[in-house]
Amino acid sequence: MPSLHADIERVLFPEDLILEGIDRVARAIVERFDGRDFTVVSILKGSCIFSADLIRRIPVPLELAFVSASSYRDKTTSGELEISFFPTGEIEGRNLLLVDDILDTGQTMSRLKEEFLRRGANEVATCVFLDKPSRRAVELDADFKVLEVEDLFVVGYGLDFNGRYRNLPYVGVLRPELYGAAEEELGRDADEPETSEAR
Ligand code: IMP
Ligand code: MG
Repeated sequence: MPSLHADIERVLFPEDLILEGIDRVARAIVERFDGRDFTVVSILKGSCIFSADLIRRIPVPLELAFVSASSYRDKTTSGELEISFFPTGEIEGRNLLLVDDILDTGQTMSRLKEEFLRRGANEVATCVFLDKPSRRAVELDADFKVLEVEDLFVVGYGLDFNGRYRNLPYVGVLRPELYGAAEEELGRDADEPETSEAR
């Protein structure tokens, strides 16, 4: 039977470290909203696992919504955001906590934040599981982040490579030959269209 774990060259963040970090962030989020009502908006697909663990550590009332978006980056565009699902009817006048798996160039988060404000959100705070500051292309810092990662392509805990590895309970780096092989036959994953480029 094929094993997911066998494809991992090294584990960067084990599960206990991840959960410890999430506890810390959950406490900070409770403080930030300070008794005000808010909605956690999970950006699909990458943040589904993080969001599920995060909200279970926030012991105050909240609502949960989902948005599905991909940012396309190639030589001709600076990064179009394509929203394939938007939580219409759950946004206007709400205080939002926008949650993503990783803040890389920052394109996805900054465009989504703008879009939610444009559609009438009262306030938009941002929370990411991983922060990769070395690759930032737009000026944006997340209000909350669990862990910082160097300029490495990582998988697991929701993060994928060509649609796979999201179900690993930890964050790791793939064996290098696997990145190469998959890139050659690359079909662009609808959720992670940019993963093939410059990596
Ligand atoms: P940004 O718009 O460049 O900040 O891209 C964020 C998106 O890129 C994330 O939601 C991920 O889907 C993807 N991404 C960036 N870096 C990685 C990585 O190291 N592993 C897996 N996906 C990544
Ligand atoms: Mg993603």
